[in-house]
Amino acid sequence: MTPQLPASAWRGLIHRYRGRLPVTEATPVVTLHEGNTPLIPVPNFVKAIGGDFELHLKYEGLNPTASFKDRGMTLAVSKAVERGAKVVICASTGNTSASAAAYAARAGIRCVVLLPNGKIALGKLAQALMYGATTIAIQGNFDVALRIVRELGETGQVEVVNSVNPVRIEGQKTAAFEICDQLGRAPDFHFLPVGNAGNITAYWKGFREYNAAGIVNGRPRMFGWQAAGAAPIVDGKPVEDPHTVATAIRIGNPASWQGALSAMKDSGGRIDKVTDDEILAAYRLVARTEGIFVEPACAAPLAGLIRCVREKAIPAGSVITATMTGHGLKDPDTAMEQSEFKPTVVPATLEAVSQVIGIR
Ligand code: F0G
Repeated sequence: MTPQLPASAWRGLIHRYRGRLPVTEATPVVTLHEGNTPLIPVPNFVKAIGGDFELHLKYEGLNPTASFKDRGMTLAVSKAVERGAKVVICASTGNTSASAAAYAARAGIRCVVLLPNGKIALGKLAQALMYGATTIAIQGNFDVALRIVRELGETGQVEVVNSVNPVRIEGQKTAAFEICDQLGRAPDFHFLPVGNAGNITAYWKGFREYNAAGIVNGRPRMFGWQAAGAAPIVDGKPVEDPHTVATAIRIGNPASWQGALSAMKDSGGRIDKVTDDEILAAYRLVARTEGIFVEPACAAPLAGLIRCVREKAIPAGSVITATMTGHGLKDPDTAMEQSEFKPTVVPATLEAVSQVIGIR
């Protein structure tokens, strides 16, 4: 039975933005009611970094599989099912695989994921396994996994749901729509992490479309951030052996390289890199000042913003948005390492506990 919901009920982003997406009445909508994530102002963080602007975080970790990938995946899996696909496949640094596995489970089709062995955050691996994906760890990095997946796609026997599938970009652009809807305007700057570069391509498309439709007047300058050990776009050449604590963006040869460059150039933006130490400092700071726990990749644009404040590159009074692409719980190992938890073990008495707290 189809549930009767009030017209205002959130039913996922295909339902909300149908007119701007490549779907028809014939498309079977596979949804976990993704999207509609909060855009949270973070004044404590801005104060802590000495900024004099507004910053709003688009908390994409609150999607059904805890990353922004669900936006592209609802559309990619819906279109795959429409075409009669029985198997979806992807290469992933973890989040795409978690999302593909969930939406394939929802659709009742098979999912195969290729992951770089040993370089996947624990939560993401747990997700692929729990959702029942055929999970293959390859002895190589993401770039090699994606090459294999693309070759398998050419056999016509599997549907590739990486962002080389243009439908993924279409779904992901809805985050830019939501930001404009939530702010009531386009931001002056948009900051986000860059890995395979699909998301920066998608956001720029979304911001341009909303502007062209007259829904908002302006478009933001796009500021994308790579990790220093995995910064092919900044360095101007593929990185053979990328490395960074932010495993989500440990990518040496991004598929949407050109899309990222266009977003940067056309928007008057910037693509730059930050070190792992800068990433980890921002990762801790946003958690402690705002209660927002993100995975390390999300801290790359925050570290980038800290850099921009130091360089006085942001005009006073600017309205800035930044995408927090994945939830902090995805990567509990890094969180535990960074919080340096050394339990204070005490006798189970009021006195002993009071003494540790410093009250009597
Ligand atoms: N942040 C997170 C948490 C990610 O998982 C990714 C990409 C990015 C940022 C970068 O986005 O690739 O569109 O530039 N993760 C992919 C994956 C590669 O397989 O989950 P991008």
